[in-house]
Amino acid sequence: MKNKISPSMMCADALNLGSTLKEFEENGIEYLHIDIMDGTFVPNFTLGTDYCKILKNATSIPLDIHLMIEKPEERLDWFPIGENDMVSVHAESTKHLQKVLRAIKDKGAKAFAALNPATPICFLEEVLDDIDGVLIMTVNPGFAGQKLVPQTLDKITRVRKLLDENGKKASEIEVDGNVSFENAEKMKKAGADIFVAGTSSVFKKDLTLTNGIIKLRSFIAD
Ligand code: DX5
Ligand code: ZN
Repeated sequence: MKNKISPSMMCADALNLGSTLKEFEENGIEYLHIDIMDGTFVPNFTLGTDYCKILKNATSIPLDIHLMIEKPEERLDWFPIGENDMVSVHAESTKHLQKVLRAIKDKGAKAFAALNPATPICFLEEVLDDIDGVLIMTVNPGFAGQKLVPQTLDKITRVRKLLDENGKKASEIEVDGNVSFENAEKMKKAGADIFVAGTSSVFKKDLTLTNGIIKLRSFIAD
């Protein structure tokens, strides 16, 4: 399966969103990563429900909504989740993980379970039949521009093994946080399929969006 790029929209130039989306469409970008934060699950606020609706109406690129919020099961309907979209819910953010993963799938979207760096992969064991993939946080969530938590590289390999050993070869692994060109190559080798591209690749200051995308694709190509 071709590796995919999901640019982190909290890193995008908010004053030039239209041209950014056009450039992403021209470069075959597969998802738009939208970080939703409630100031409680993580110490930050970023993008919101209206922003998701704006993107939904502005482009055909599917949304990759990353919910870093408490009680996601009560707030899912606030978002314009449709077919082809994917939604990641943190295992640490709800007492009802299986229920909210199922609710995402009932909307026709792909359901991903997200794990913070310190959360063991055993949190996935009881929901392997309810997920389309796993979002592995390679930084502690809340802010862009952070450095990779090194032990998360091995975690990618262990999650891939867990999925494969349980007949889930089609389940994908998304990585999120300091996905630099060099880190992306290591993450790909470890088993990642979807790469959240932020300040250290696609939105790198000294590159155009197109050049950042082309360069990242060269590092994650199989
Ligand atoms: C952090 C977010 C990431 C972040 C990525 O909580 O989930 O998507 O924006 O930004 P970089 O790539 O700069 O770490
Ligand atoms: Zn994210």
